[in-house]
Amino acid sequence: MNRPSPMQGEAGANRAAEARLAEAVGLTASIGLTIVHSAIFPLRATRPSTLLGEGQVDLVREECARHGVTVVVVDAALSPVQQRNLERAWGAKVIDRTGLILEIFGERARTREGALQVELAHLSYQRTRLVRSWTHLERQRGGFGFLGGPGESQIEIDRRLIDDRIIRLKKELEQVRRTRGLHRSARQRVPYPVVALVGYTNAGKSTLFNALTGAGVFAQDQLFATLDPTMRAIRLPSGRTVILSDTVGFISDLPTQLVEAFRATLEEVAAADIILHVRDAAHPDSAAQRADVLAVMAEMAAGDDATMDEAWPGRVIEVLNKADLMGGVGALARRGGNVLPDIPGAIAVSALTGDGLDSLRAALDARLTAGMQTADYRIGLADGARLAWLYEHGEVLAREDAEDAIRVSVRLSPADRARFEQRED
Ligand code: GTP
Repeated sequence: MNRPSPMQGEAGANRAAEARLAEAVGLTASIGLTIVHSAIFPLRATRPSTLLGEGQVDLVREECARHGVTVVVVDAALSPVQQRNLERAWGAKVIDRTGLILEIFGERARTREGALQVELAHLSYQRTRLVRSWTHLERQRGGFGFLGGPGESQIEIDRRLIDDRIIRLKKELEQVRRTRGLHRSARQRVPYPVVALVGYTNAGKSTLFNALTGAGVFAQDQLFATLDPTMRAIRLPSGRTVILSDTVGFISDLPTQLVEAFRATLEEVAAADIILHVRDAAHPDSAAQRADVLAVMAEMAAGDDATMDEAWPGRVIEVLNKADLMGGVGALARRGGNVLPDIPGAIAVSALTGDGLDSLRAALDARLTAGMQTADYRIGLADGARLAWLYEHGEVLAREDAEDAIRVSVRLSPADRARFEQRED
């Protein structure tokens, strides 16, 4: 359900409402719920007790009864009272937009800080509800906080538990922030360049991730696949290995209290060597979505309104996905205006058909080798691992084996050079 913006004309409002419904349905599916019915309700006069009009509440009740629905997602902000009244009217759990997004962030937060931020946001949100369905303390993080739980008699106890937990979380966050430097260096030990996918939800990040990683299992992959299923190793045409990392998607109209939690889920993007900004080139709001992504990322990097290139110099490649819906890769690349406002280095692809993926792989190679530098190292005879690393990641131009050490001259990307020089072994 959603509300058309009063700023748009009838046709524009309908299209926006459809797009918003599609997004909400996609988000709902992504937390593992099966959708049996979805509908748009125009809100003419909102009722404080239920948000929806009486007739609309009845319609939903009928659908709930017909399909045996246990959860209803309302794509709007509900007050705690509205949520409770709707739950009573429909005999089902009700999740509003903030609740839905919190569930998604909870499942996807991967850094410790990210998980803590999301839990804090979740608790502050729950604190204002009469936590009828509280189950949060029984789980580590994320998951279905709204589905099932102990019941209303628990409310007071729950509230006290939440307050205690909030205090402890804040302390823990402090601690994690203080030791963040340590996490970063652990991250830098990932032995290959990291390519992070960012973009709006539904832009096709996961489809692209799967298309690039393919079915082929590759030895280096196993380590990452077990650590984190959203990271996979791939091999580029040059033979170079990179780690592809999928992230949680951007969501339109992110509730303000969730902005911090969302940024925390993007933490690891900051450590990536290359960022692939995946766009749905066929989406009517493609240009506005692009601006949102760039604004959040620029802010993440610099804390204020630095431009993308100051914030992430040379690190972003824009990927115009769903070219198949726009007349193919060639046609999309030639198109100007709304979709391609002169974005240097943008690459048109269809993650679905595989068109354009070769160009994308080649662009990754080119970006990784851009600015390659030649460095000379003296490597101890016992340092076989360091030497092997250089052979694997760089291009060894000259080698001189002396009695006490090996001297090598090697061409490396700036990122690999930094990585090598930070190695402790
Ligand atoms: P989140 O996980 O919600 O952030 O979404 P996502 O960006 O990972 O999008 P996902 O890969 O799940 O794709 C969203 C929808 O777009 C799916 O229905 C895909 O089948 C479809 N899709 C992805 N790539 C393409 C494409 O190149 N062409 C077309 N026509 N559809 C695509």
